[in-house]
Amino acid sequence: MKALPVPVIPFLRRLLTGARRSRHAVPNINYVPALVGFLVLAVATFSVVFLSPFQWPPVSSSSLFSNAGAGCDMTRGEWVRDPSARPYYTNATCAFIEGYQNCMTHGKPSLEFLQWRWRPDGGCGGELGRRFDAARFFRLVRGKSILFVGDSLASSHVRSLVCTLSQTESPEERSPPQRSGEGFEHWRFPAHAFTVAFFWTPFQGPERQGEVFAGPTDIHLDEPDQRWVPAAMDHDYVVVSASHWFARPAVYYLGGRVAGCHGHHDGCGAMANATKLKPEHAQRAAFRTVLGKLAGMEGLKRTTVILRTVAPTHYENGGWFDGGECTATQPADPEDPVEMAEPEGEFYRAQVEEFAAAEEIARRKNDVRMRMMDVTKMMLRRPDGHPDRYGHGAGEHEGFEIDCLHWCLPGPIDVWNDMLLHIIAGR
Ligand SMILES: *[C@@H]1O[C@H](CO)[C@@H](O)[C@H](O)[C@H]1NC(C)=O
Ligand SMILES: *[C@@H]1O[C@H](CO)[C@@H](O)[C@H](O)[C@H]1NC(C)=O
Repeated sequence: MKALPVPVIPFLRRLLTGARRSRHAVPNINYVPALVGFLVLAVATFSVVFLSPFQWPPVSSSSLFSNAGAGCDMTRGEWVRDPSARPYYTNATCAFIEGYQNCMTHGKPSLEFLQWRWRPDGGCGGELGRRFDAARFFRLVRGKSILFVGDSLASSHVRSLVCTLSQTESPEERSPPQRSGEGFEHWRFPAHAFTVAFFWTPFQGPERQGEVFAGPTDIHLDEPDQRWVPAAMDHDYVVVSASHWFARPAVYYLGGRVAGCHGHHDGCGAMANATKLKPEHAQRAAFRTVLGKLAGMEGLKRTTVILRTVAPTHYENGGWFDGGECTATQPADPEDPVEMAEPEGEFYRAQVEEFAAAEEIARRKNDVRMRMMDVTKMMLRRPDGHPDRYGHGAGEHEGFEIDCLHWCLPGPIDVWNDMLLHIIAGR
């Protein structure tokens, strides 16, 4: 079995410990100069979970997805049952599935969630709604590479893609040395001359995690993460994502100075005098920074920047820490309005708007290709696709006890590869 440079589960455990503590005590503010700028982005996906029960007013989903556009709009459509559907890979045929994603091994009682296909409303020329065409994908990406930058959900997408492609060609995996300070992980498909890379952003090294989670995270909202941003030009595709982590306790910096804080129920802890800043504002600023930087970057001629939007959580009857669960065994009924919790709705809106602003910069400056991979609406309708209680074995409680944030592999996020293929084919 392979190991992540930063083991995911211990990492989750520390995260949860830190978040829990912050609800009850003034954390010792022992800032780690760790998070430079945007890497948070990378980490961002756990979110809302850290903000206790969702007490924000729900947002109507219809207002969120008025995604006009010519041709194929993959974001609108329907999950249709297909009892003949077979996953592209299983726990037995792919070794890259992490424990917390491995619902099959952990005995999720119903595997019905694997029997649905995403069918776009129309204009997609059969692009989706049928099986992912690995041969076509490999043809399109021959001699190319793709970099994913993000947190555990980005890591899940990477594993979904690698597992799917590995049924055609077994990749060579290269993990960075544990303490190299470099977070790049690679999978190389030599016969198809294609490389998948992943950068797990927020931490310089394992020894820093404890410190980060002992207190709020330092986030420099106006500084792109120099650990991965320069590498963008070495890749043909860069997939950026993040959101949930912005809900964590944090101290925000602009121009190197404290600009605000968020998240301590006692008023930002020892930062009591700092301006309180909502996580959605911080997230927006961070997206503005990273997307703006990429959009205006010299040397990015060959690169397509792809923003993968928020994948919603589905905790019901509580949050991650107090028994919230996701026991659905089917997608939401197409007739049911499904509402997105806040601040996820705000995160999504900020992504869409900041993406549009960055596209404008790209157009004016140097025509960096920017694409949005909007998975939000389709994932909102899949409360059945999370591990729930089956993200760990009996007696193992290192990650979420009940996980309605991550997604099972195989599972509904496998359709993200179809969207990726569509974007790549449309260049
Ligand atoms: C895969 O999952 C099945 C149950 O769905 C289980 O019986 C089997 O042992 C698992 N295989 C591996 C390699 O984990
Ligand atoms: C906050 O401001 C008040 C009034 O200016 C001051 O007395 C107090 O020491 C400050 N607290 C911190 C933690 O800086």
